Amino acid sequence: MTAAAQTTSAPAVDAPGVDPNAALYAKSAGAGRRIADDDQLHEGTHAGPTADRLTLPPLTLGPITVDVPVVLAPMAGITNTAFRRLCREYGGGLYVNEMVTARALVERKPESMRIIRHDPDEVPRSVQLYSVDPVTTAGAVRMLVEEDRCDHLDLNFGCPVPKVTRRGGGSALPWKSELFASIVKAAVTEASKKDIPVTVKMRRGIDEDHLTFLDAGRAARDLGVAAVALHGRTTRQFYSGTAVWEDIARLREALPDIPVLGNGDIWSAEDAIAMVEQTGVDGVVIGRGCQGRPWLFGDLQNAFEGRAERFRPNLGMVADTLYRHAELLVDTFGGDEVKALRDIRKHVAWYFKGYPVGSQIRTALSTVPDLATLRQLLDGIDRDIPYPGPDAEGPRGRAGAPKRPHLPDGWLDSRELNAEQKAMIAAAELDVSGG
Ligand SMILES: Cc1cc2nc3c(=O)[nH]c(=O)nc-3n(C[C@H](O)[C@H](O)[C@H](O)COP(=O)(O)O)c2cc1C
Repeated sequence: MTAAAQTTSAPAVDAPGVDPNAALYAKSAGAGRRIADDDQLHEGTHAGPTADRLTLPPLTLGPITVDVPVVLAPMAGITNTAFRRLCREYGGGLYVNEMVTARALVERKPESMRIIRHDPDEVPRSVQLYSVDPVTTAGAVRMLVEEDRCDHLDLNFGCPVPKVTRRGGGSALPWKSELFASIVKAAVTEASKKDIPVTVKMRRGIDEDHLTFLDAGRAARDLGVAAVALHGRTTRQFYSGTAVWEDIARLREALPDIPVLGNGDIWSAEDAIAMVEQTGVDGVVIGRGCQGRPWLFGDLQNAFEGRAERFRPNLGMVADTLYRHAELLVDTFGGDEVKALRDIRKHVAWYFKGYPVGSQIRTALSTVPDLATLRQLLDGIDRDIPYPGPDAEGPRGRAGAPKRPHLPDGWLDSRELNAEQKAMIAAAELDVSGG
C-alpha cells in the first residue's frame, strides 16, 4: 500500500454533530497556571539546514509504505476530512485524523463515528486513539480492525491540556510505566490480528525532572509498535519556546530498529530538512506549520524529492484555498453550512498571515455566515497581491508560556499506580467520553 499524492475530488461525507475533541483542546488551550520565572525551562536550539533537498527512503510502517516520509500531525478540530483532503492534494504523506476517545468510539457516539470517517480515496486511513485504560483500548481497536475502519492506528500520549493530564491521561500517562505498557500492548495485540501497524505519539515527559521519552520509546518498541513519534516538549513546556530536537536525536539513537519521527516547530520545508539533518529521524510530523498553508505538503514533497521549488501563493490562490476549505467543510459536516462556516472562521487569520488584508474584511470574515457571503467577501480582495515572504512564514497557531502541569494527587511520587489512582483512571476514561 502506498500513500502518494492524491488529486481526485471528494465525494460528500455524511457528518452530523459537533466535534467534542476540538472543544476539549480549544477550551483548555489557555488554561493552567502560567509560570512567570521558570528556572526549569529547557529550550532546544535549531540550526538552519545545510541543503535545500533531502534524500530519505520511504517510511515503512508495517505493511504500509509512505512514499514521502511526512506525517500530518493529528489536530483536534483541524485535521478532519476537509483539511486532510486539502493537504493530500499537495503532497504525499500520512494524514492522521483528529483524536477520538476509545470509550466514545466503543459507545459509537455519532461524533466519534464522524471523526473516524475517511474519504473513499484516502489511503492509508489513519486514526488516532486516546485512551487511559487497556480494556477500553482493546475494545476500540477490535472494533476498528474487525470493521475495517483504518489502515494505521496512532496512540495519543502527548496531549498536555489540564483537563486531560489532571486525570492522568495524554502526556501524563507514560510516567505510569505499567499502565502505558498495558495500553500499548492491548492496541498492538488487537491491531496485529489484521496486520494494522500501531504507532505512539508522545512528549519528552512531564517536566525536566520527569522525562519519560526514552523509557516509553523502548517499552513501545519492545511491545511491537511500528514507529514512535516524539514532540520535543514536555507537558510543562506546553506549546511555549522551542522544541528540544536534541532529545528527538537521542530517541533516534536509542531506537535503531524502528522508525522514529520528529515533531515540533517545523514551519517550512527547510525546517524539515534541518530536523532530519540534526536528528537523523526517519520522517517528520507537521502540526501548526500547515494551519492556513496546506501547500506546505507540496513544499515538503519537493524537498524530499530533491526539488528546490516552493509554493509562494499570491492572495488570489490563498483566497481560493480558503473558499475550497469552507466548501469541503460543508461536506465534512454532512451539508451543515452553518457549522462549516463557523468552523472556517478560526482558519482565516492563519490563511491571511502576512498578507495585507484589511481589518474590515478580516472582521467580516470572523462572522461569515454562509458560502455566498464568503464568496462575496473574498471577491473584494486584491487577488494579485504577491506572496509576502517572511511575514507569511515562521511560527503560527498555538504558542504561549510554560504551564505548571495539572496532575492527579501524588502522581509523580511513583511510576506505578496506587489504588486511588487506579480508580480515578477508570473514571477518567468515562470523563472525556464526550466524543
Ligand atoms: C489545535 C491543536 C490540536 C491538537 N490536537 C492533537 C490531537 O488530537 N492529538 C495529538 O496527538 N496531538 C494534538 N496536537 C499536537 C500536535 O499534533 C503536535 O504534536 C504539536 O502541535 C507540535 O507540533 P508542531 O510544532 O508541528 O505544531 C494538537 C495541536 C494543536 C495546535
